[in-house]
Amino acid sequence: MAKQFKVVVMGIGNRGSVYANVSLEFPEKLKIVGIVDPDPVRTELMRKRYNVPKENCFIKVEDFVARDKFADAVFNCTMDHLHIKTSIPVLEKGYDLLLEKPFAINEAEVHELSAVAKKCGRKVVICHVLRYTDFYSSIKKVVDSGEIGDIISIETCEHINYHHLAVSFVRGKWRSEKLCFAPMILAKSCHDMDILLWMMNKTKPKYISSFGDDFQFGKERKPKGAGLRCMADCPYVDECRFSAKANYLSATRWGHYVWKCIEGKENVTIEDKEESLKTFNPYGKCVWDFERDGNVDHQTVIIKFENGATGSFNMIGGSVKSERNIHIVGTLGEIKGTFEDSKYVIRRIAPFTSNGYVEELVDVKDLGDDKIGANGGHGGGDKIIVHDFIDYVQGDKEPSFRCTTLEDSKISHLTVFKAEEARKSEKVVKIDC
Ligand SMILES: NC(=O)c1ccc[n+]([C@@H]2O[C@H](COP(=O)([O-])OP(=O)(O)OC[C@H]3O[C@@H](n4cnc5c(N)ncnc54)[C@H](O)[C@@H]3O)[C@@H](O)[C@H]2O)c1
Repeated sequence: MAKQFKVVVMGIGNRGSVYANVSLEFPEKLKIVGIVDPDPVRTELMRKRYNVPKENCFIKVEDFVARDKFADAVFNCTMDHLHIKTSIPVLEKGYDLLLEKPFAINEAEVHELSAVAKKCGRKVVICHVLRYTDFYSSIKKVVDSGEIGDIISIETCEHINYHHLAVSFVRGKWRSEKLCFAPMILAKSCHDMDILLWMMNKTKPKYISSFGDDFQFGKERKPKGAGLRCMADCPYVDECRFSAKANYLSATRWGHYVWKCIEGKENVTIEDKEESLKTFNPYGKCVWDFERDGNVDHQTVIIKFENGATGSFNMIGGSVKSERNIHIVGTLGEIKGTFEDSKYVIRRIAPFTSNGYVEELVDVKDLGDDKIGANGGHGGGDKIIVHDFIDYVQGDKEPSFRCTTLEDSKISHLTVFKAEEARKSEKVVKIDC
């Protein structure tokens, strides 16, 4: 049996703990041996959870890399704009890296990290967790088998429901580019761009155009008479779809974001939570009062590939239900499915049948390929990626077919940056990648 894999987690917040939790489920496979995070309250909570020695907890990456190498790899789960500056010292120290998406916030950073990883000879895997789900990985296998022929066109769509949109992209840390450095299409949908380009199997994108807008938010759209805080002074508190009372107290959604401001406080009561929403908690503020700095809530991207195929991606924030759809049309057949349903259909051209086609329904639950992903976030992808990364680094093997190496992810990131350039300039932009 392979030896236990030792990891230092850099940024032990929401995502850091999602990946670190694999060590609790599979202690023989993974052990968290260090933490780098400037937040003392969070570090102490997580240090106890994963039984990390105090001397292996660091406030800064510089202090961590000053120590001799004591782990097999690092999980970098810091925020988007910190990825490059925290990853470079770690690669230079000789650690392999599992790095959160988006791994870079502009083109220069993409090339900088790629150059350092090459120079240091380190493995870098980007957390495009959707690739690891049975849904997308089995679709990829069908595409690669040649069953549907050459792809003529591919459509993908991500619907982000109204409460997810509000918590992350209106009230939360991705509400403005000035604050988080990543537009919504990068922060939320670089996964979808990765899936789209992955299915195209290294056929390069050549031209891109994009449109998007902020349709729902901004001070000018605030309902007449609405207050500053839902639970303090707003007459719409019991009817508004973005009501903090409805979403965070009644329905207890998105706790890891909403209660960050009272994290570490002992014996938190519902009254403490209510009081925070009425006074200092940013998630208690009216959604129409935030500075948006040009952020959009929906965006469409159209791509022409070098071989003449086309692709489109639609990001729609504010939907009733979150949902990802994919429809790939090939010269011999097509695949159409919805990620959340865990089902897709494969249709094959069959000119001698009455319909002109035959259809097969694939229920992904029946495939049962990946038991290790059971009950994990992103359809199991959050857990499977950790196993896949360990096997790749530890086994000294080639990356698996679904592994998003840095070089793979470079293309999707560059495409997203060009989509933003196209949206902002309202022009068709050429992509060189
Ligand atoms: N793969 C996915 O599906 C997915 C989903 C959500 C978020 N993300 C990405 O994961 C990353 C982390 O998001 P999150 O919601 O977990 O954030 P978070 O705020 O919960 O956690 C980030 C942590 O980094 C720490 N930190 C800040 N500065 C640091 C530094 N210099 N060195 C080390 N640690 C530092 C913070 O104290 C915090 O604990 C982001 O890049 C985000 O876009 C990925």
